Amino acid sequence: MLAAGKGTRMKSEKAKVLHQAAGRPIAFFPIRAALALDASPVVVVIGHQAETVQEELSRLFAGAPLRFALQAEQLGTGHAVRCAEEALRGFDGSVLILAADVPLIRAETLQKLVSARQDADVALLTCRAKDPKGYGRVVRREDGSVARIVEEKDASAQERGISEINASIYLADARFLFSALRAVDRSNAQGEYYLTDIVARGRAVAVEAEESEVSGVNDRAQLARSAAQLRERRNAQLMKDGVTLVDPAVTYVDEGIEVGADSVLEPMVSLRGKTKVGRNVRIGQGCVIVDSEIADGAEILPYTHMTESRIGPGAVVGPFARLRPGAQLAERAKVGNFVELKKTLLGKGSKASHLSYLGDAVIGEGCNVGAGTITCNYDGKNKLATTIEDGAFIGSDSQLVAPVKIGKNAYVGSGTTVREDVPPGALAVSAGKQRNIEGWVEKKAPRKAPKKD
Ligand code: UD1
Ligand code: CA
Repeated sequence: MLAAGKGTRMKSEKAKVLHQAAGRPIAFFPIRAALALDASPVVVVIGHQAETVQEELSRLFAGAPLRFALQAEQLGTGHAVRCAEEALRGFDGSVLILAADVPLIRAETLQKLVSARQDADVALLTCRAKDPKGYGRVVRREDGSVARIVEEKDASAQERGISEINASIYLADARFLFSALRAVDRSNAQGEYYLTDIVARGRAVAVEAEESEVSGVNDRAQLARSAAQLRERRNAQLMKDGVTLVDPAVTYVDEGIEVGADSVLEPMVSLRGKTKVGRNVRIGQGCVIVDSEIADGAEILPYTHMTESRIGPGAVVGPFARLRPGAQLAERAKVGNFVELKKTLLGKGSKASHLSYLGDAVIGEGCNVGAGTITCNYDGKNKLATTIEDGAFIGSDSQLVAPVKIGKNAYVGSGTTVREDVPPGALAVSAGKQRNIEGWVEKKAPRKAPKKD
């Protein structure tokens, strides 16, 4: 897997192969395709930002037979493959060579190379390009067999007229590969060791692929196009698995996320990271759901933002809710509009329907948290806990100053500032008795200036 290049055209601080599509670095996709063919070991040739690339890929493919080979100086694709020789010492099967910037390649297509090579020294993937400019061209003999590859910069005018291009994906016999590479020199227009030069040094067969599958990512426009293609495949699979996508063109589900059958994803939904969605779940328009679990039958209404949260079966969230890490809703719990939760457990059937902040709280079953309730969980230094026991009722516009506990079935009157624990079954009120001052408006209220036209 060639991944040492800088990716100059990305104009980025970040190595090209780490740029993301469908929530994964682009290098993830060809590596996964190679692993799907049981390629072992997979040697990733790294150079530009080697450490970061190795770290990230090792994390993504923990447990897979990945090895890394350093190409300290990028002297060309042939040189890059030679850098992998040490890591492949003693290996004498077929070597699959891929570039890490070709995320759309499918395992099925790579499999065709395996079937095609037979006793040829190398099988290479080619395609008929609408615009072959910039690619290496496949030069065939009169009998149609592959003679060699010529790079655009080294090609004659006639060779530039060839529309069949080299996709830079090969399957070669290991012994042939490394002995052919030793004979490759740098006498070409770019002064590089060209991997393509091995083709003329043995018997080569070509397998034609779809252009869309072998197109690489060299700039941000190609990155966006590849991401769109990956999304299209992913969404097609989800629909096959029984998920309704109201508009698949604008549905964003990261790689690896499971969504259960009969669930509905409305337009502009983004499911990211380690999210998992059960069956029969409805996710409303514009929701962004990150690293969260949503159980069967739950409903997430439009424009909800959720991170590291867990939603129980049949629970309802939103619209316009914000669930921060550690928010957890039990079965049939309900969080309504403009409610923010953080590290808070909302018990079975409990509700916080409007305009609240609930942080560091454990709320029991069957509780009602009224509009505008705020847990004052932060004293400027520490985060403090609030406990609300089963069946408690918190009147609207109350402040619960943590640490504090509201006992089972207790009531908190509207507008109460709760600073002390409320015993089970008690009513807590903190406001004084209301006074009405008769005639105040007539006598004391500030006069409005008379209107002038
Ligand atoms: C290469 C092929 C060309 C083919 C094209 C398809 C050669 C000489 N040419 O050209 O025939 O049509 O791919 O996209 O192979 N890399 C390294 N180390 C290096 C140089 C490159 O790891 O020293 C890696 C890059 O990171 C990249 C891949 O190899 O992943 C391809 O390199 P690139 O420079 O893009 O090759 P092209 O000029 O596009
Ligand atoms: Ca390229």
